[in-house]
Amino acid sequence: MIADKHIILVGLMGSGKSTVGKLLARQMHLPFHDSDQEIVRRTGVTIPMIFEVEGEAGFRRREEQVLAELLQREPQVLATGGGIVLSEMNRALIREHGTVLYLRATVDELWQRTRHDKNRPLLQVDDPRQRLQQLFTDRDPLYREVADITVDTGRQSVQSLVHQLVRQLGRQKVSS
Ligand code: S3P
Repeated sequence: MIADKHIILVGLMGSGKSTVGKLLARQMHLPFHDSDQEIVRRTGVTIPMIFEVEGEAGFRRREEQVLAELLQREPQVLATGGGIVLSEMNRALIREHGTVLYLRATVDELWQRTRHDKNRPLLQVDDPRQRLQQLFTDRDPLYREVADITVDTGRQSVQSLVHQLVRQLGRQKVSS
């Protein structure tokens, strides 16, 4: 299938955007990009370091800029940082330029996948599980607002998830 728009993955930290995105890109013969990785590549420092030096606001400014630039490129599969939907401008941009996939997972699943991670500054708090719960409550409506397709990642393997997404993207294309 040939994509004429970007395929954009959104969802909370630990939902599998990068892993699924890479496989999906391979299946669909599209380039893969990751907005967080692009920020790290450009700045030459880690995301925790950006949060430490510039605060979350500084990181969000960089994120907005990188998103706008990446969306000007050829069609691609784009994995975004979990907070990309916080900006109204970002939400408008991704809806306009992409078919948006929301990888939805329960707080328990997200917690299992992120609990040993030191690379996510928002989870370096006394009660990271509670923080994830709060982020889920705040952001689930925003992910739903931008999503063309929502998939519950559940217990299925990454391969079967990718397979399901390719099928749904095909259907989406036929009906659009
Ligand atoms: C963030 C998610 C991270 C990264 C940053 C902030 C968030 O990306 O952009 O730590 O606000 O949810 P992942 O969703 O890829 O972990």
